[in-house]
Amino acid sequence: MKINIASDYHDMSRQAAERFYEKLQADPSVHFGLATGGTPIGMYRHLSELLASSPLKTDALKTFNLDEYIGLPPSDPNSFYSFMKEQVYKPWNLQADQCFIPDGNAADLEKECERYEAMIDQYGIDVQLLGVGKNGHIGFNEPGTRFDALTQVVELKPSTRKANARFFPSTDDVPTHAVTMGIGSILKAKEIVLIASGEAKAEAVYALVHREQTEDWPITALKQHRNVTVIVDEAAGRLI
Ligand code: GLP
Repeated sequence: MKINIASDYHDMSRQAAERFYEKLQADPSVHFGLATGGTPIGMYRHLSELLASSPLKTDALKTFNLDEYIGLPPSDPNSFYSFMKEQVYKPWNLQADQCFIPDGNAADLEKECERYEAMIDQYGIDVQLLGVGKNGHIGFNEPGTRFDALTQVVELKPSTRKANARFFPSTDDVPTHAVTMGIGSILKAKEIVLIASGEAKAEAVYALVHREQTEDWPITALKQHRNVTVIVDEAAGRLI
């Protein structure tokens, strides 16, 4: 595992964006696994700027998202689809057939999970971006999730709903369930880049670096992957 301590959020975002840019440069039909949340916004902006001033084309790139809330229509401003449209799909000029995200409104959610997992297997993810929750969750895989779990429906912990409430009118408006790639699905990626910023993430980053693998800290599953780069700012890295 490579650990890069960035000086601040901006530096973390720049380093992560440059890694993804290099991957696209090396292979224009690369498959990116992407994440939502506040943390990747700076990285997406930086990559958008790099792309805007570069001859690199994005028309062969494919993106695969980690998760989506259940019960929010894609048009809802708080759906992860809306987030991606705003932060990535539009600025990177991606067309619908390049962008994959679980359907949290599927009539049969079990089937949707199977479909999404089959697609991950069919295409393969070259590099997966991850953020992390305060309690060490990756995607929406909360503490206690099995490390071999595949794409699944999960119930969100109250603490996760509270943390994500900042994007909603109130905590009650945050959906209770989501579809998420499982930890087993995430570990299938050829390369993983995890970014974390701010003191609230320091304990989770500590767990990744210093604890044994434990389902109490989903982030520790990354210890079994051969190609992980962790990019944290000083505040998130202060305990390591
Ligand atoms: C959500 C997402 C995660 C993300 C986490 C942390 O729960 N499902 O993928 O890592 O939030 O988000 P933030 O970056 O806003 O702290």
